[in-house]
Amino acid sequence: MFSGRLPPHAEQNALSTALAALQAQGASIVDLTDSNPTHTAIPYPDDLLASLGDSEGLRYEPHPFGLPAARAAVAADQRRRGALVDPARVVLTSSSSEAYSWLFKLLCNPGEGVLVPQPSYPLFEHLTALDGVRMHPYALEYHGRWAIDIDAIAAAPADVRAVLVVSPNNPTGSYIDEDELRRLSAVCRERRWALIADEVFADYPLDVTDPLTDIAARDQVLSFTLAGLSKSVGLPQLKLGWCIVGGPPRERDAALAALELIADSYLSVGTPVQLALPALLDVGSRVRSAIQERIRVNLAALHAVVRGFPACDLLRTEGGWSAVVRVPATRTEEQLALDLLGAERILVHPGYFFGFPRESHLVVSLLPPPDVFESAIARMLTFGNG
Ligand SMILES: Cc1ncc(COP(=O)(O)O)c(C=O)c1O
Repeated sequence: MFSGRLPPHAEQNALSTALAALQAQGASIVDLTDSNPTHTAIPYPDDLLASLGDSEGLRYEPHPFGLPAARAAVAADQRRRGALVDPARVVLTSSSSEAYSWLFKLLCNPGEGVLVPQPSYPLFEHLTALDGVRMHPYALEYHGRWAIDIDAIAAAPADVRAVLVVSPNNPTGSYIDEDELRRLSAVCRERRWALIADEVFADYPLDVTDPLTDIAARDQVLSFTLAGLSKSVGLPQLKLGWCIVGGPPRERDAALAALELIADSYLSVGTPVQLALPALLDVGSRVRSAIQERIRVNLAALHAVVRGFPACDLLRTEGGWSAVVRVPATRTEEQLALDLLGAERILVHPGYFFGFPRESHLVVSLLPPPDVFESAIARMLTFGNG
């Protein structure tokens, strides 16, 4: 009999089952969980994918880390935020999920662990399990802004080999700050851990001035910054991400050499998308601007609506595509999400889905079209206060 290694997601299933039942009845649902930019009426330039038709793509010249011109294009693109990156340190992957898998293979023996923020991206549970790596959560605490408890991190078990930061984090929207990075890097050096920085949302600052980005380019410790087309230009379907490797030269070069063997075993990124990358990054900046505008408008509307509900609280959103609203804990988060779906046909994520330790939080995507978003938020909060 099949016995899988993935943990079950019983709680999420109650909501998915209710959703599937409503969809089967043809009910129209307002999906405030949708973080797929290609679903949310973001304007994409008509010619955005034209460069995928380059006939150079008829030739196959495999390179473990990707075509030199594509890696150079990624390195050049980092200058938008002022980061100077040597193309030799850019590794192309088909997604950040794949980059995680390669890094877990690179850094951990089976059964060793990585530290993962909580609340954060729920897929970490699966990504670590699939690579036979233990996931040790570390807490992010909210005191008007989300902060990392570095002392708790320093007390981590001996099997840990790396610490993950997501900056800005999904769904809390918090960027790591200078002081946290300095202290975290010191712990990493002392414990000989690598630092994996998921910066897929780094291009989407909101309530923050001068956010810290491009962690691997700072070379403070062996580090890997992950990002990609999926968020940077709103094209998840093209399957192209990157990992920038940084750190003290000896450690960094040893990591690159080992990573090359892993990458060479998969050669997963298609040639047409690599050839198209310089044009995609160039023309795609228009999509990024449209997404930036969308999340700003929706966050402003969310602030305005929440002000009308004194028992609710919009947590500070420094960046990214999600926002978190604290609502009165009159029932469990799961029940609230189920009732909201049943009564109002509005789908939201309950906080526990992302590992919020306390009730009651609702997580919404900032991507839906503004008219849909604003009216659904008002109905959501009226219902949540009822
Ligand atoms: C924190 C975080 N990292 C990575 C990803 C996925 O990126 P990719 O499409 O490159 O795998 C997501 C998707 O929502 C995310 O929230």
